[in-house]
Amino acid sequence: MKPVKVGICGLGTVGGGTFNVLKRNAEEIARRAGRGIEVAQIATRHPNAKCDTGATPITADIFDVVNNPEIDIVVELIGGYTLAKELVLKAIDNGKHVVTANKALIAVHGNEIFAKAREKGVIVAFEASVAGGIPVIKAIREGLAGNRINWLAGIINGTGNFILTEMREKGRTFEEVLKEAQEFGYAEADPTFDVEGIDAAHKLTILASIAFGIPLQFDKAYTEGIARLTTTDVNYAEALGYRIKHLGVARRTDAGIELRVHPTLIPADRLIANVNGVMNAVMVNGDAVGSTLYYGAGAGMEPTASAVVADLVDVTRALTTDPNNRVPHLAFQPDSLSDHPILPISACESAYYLRIQAKDHPGVLAQVASILSERGINIESIMQKEAEEQDGLVPVILVTHRVVEQRIDDAIAALEKLDDVADKVVRIRVEQLN
Ligand code: HSE
Repeated sequence: MKPVKVGICGLGTVGGGTFNVLKRNAEEIARRAGRGIEVAQIATRHPNAKCDTGATPITADIFDVVNNPEIDIVVELIGGYTLAKELVLKAIDNGKHVVTANKALIAVHGNEIFAKAREKGVIVAFEASVAGGIPVIKAIREGLAGNRINWLAGIINGTGNFILTEMREKGRTFEEVLKEAQEFGYAEADPTFDVEGIDAAHKLTILASIAFGIPLQFDKAYTEGIARLTTTDVNYAEALGYRIKHLGVARRTDAGIELRVHPTLIPADRLIANVNGVMNAVMVNGDAVGSTLYYGAGAGMEPTASAVVADLVDVTRALTTDPNNRVPHLAFQPDSLSDHPILPISACESAYYLRIQAKDHPGVLAQVASILSERGINIESIMQKEAEEQDGLVPVILVTHRVVEQRIDDAIAALEKLDDVADKVVRIRVEQLN
């Protein structure tokens, strides 16, 4: 059988990796796919020194690839929302299948893209968009198809995890580690996407859709970054038996779906609390299977290429299948998506770590306890440290039981009004993940 013809748009870190993996493993890939997968054209403005493209035709215009009648599958690796969307929609219009690693594009424009792809009977595959080389989309969409998924939680931004790990283990500064992540090619073009949790929220939006069968709703995800985390809280968390991780959490409740990205205390003995560096991990809890954990490299040249190439193999196998009998883009049949609402963060529920900088007066603890108990907030553990030399303030650190966020907001507002509380109260959410 003739090889399937692929056009790669973008020859950066992931594009270069995809080309190299396709070339190196061509024989094994063909044995799996049932026919060869050949790169027939590449669109790039800059050569990639890590990639020997040999005689493969190269163009500077991505639309040459999309309009090339020879090409069966367009691989979109240019990133961003605007041009990438135009490229993908044009490819679909031209009857081509698409493989993309673009989480921003799928999270923000996926509903429209998939509708158009259905109309045209083509596949848009996006395994590489979440957690790099970990086949977590396939696992949830196909491997866990018998389950009602209850929740999922993941470390889904390698750059952020790398920064937190280096800060905790080596005491390195935030800026220094971020620069290194950029040099390794892990960080987004705009690294605030990594540190502010936007990249993780893109990925979480995608995971939640395929886990719960809801449309993609990135605009409703709650996002809080890691830039304001201090070593003080990292150290107190350790003393209490927790690690701080930047977690994406999606949970189904009767009232709606929680969709939130924020720094989170996790018990230090959980496997996921020990996922370090640029590695990613996603826990998925289903009613039949219980908790499962998927771990691996979440970014980088060949790990991400691994997912792109797996999609190319899937699409190649599906070329001759009836479009109505393919795995749906969002795991559930498009006419069976649910309108279960996404909850605002004030209606989400978790436990909380609070650090209160109190004046060293008798009765402060009693006031704190009374504000919490008046709002039905149960304290699980409390730790009071000796007064700090520089300001004489006493750090009171406590962990609550699970409670709806609105009550914690009210309690923090009341605590900050106390004369004996000197500073803003630090609040970090806590998840036991059991
Ligand atoms: N900037 C992303 C990360 C790349 O650090 O995880 C992979 O999506």
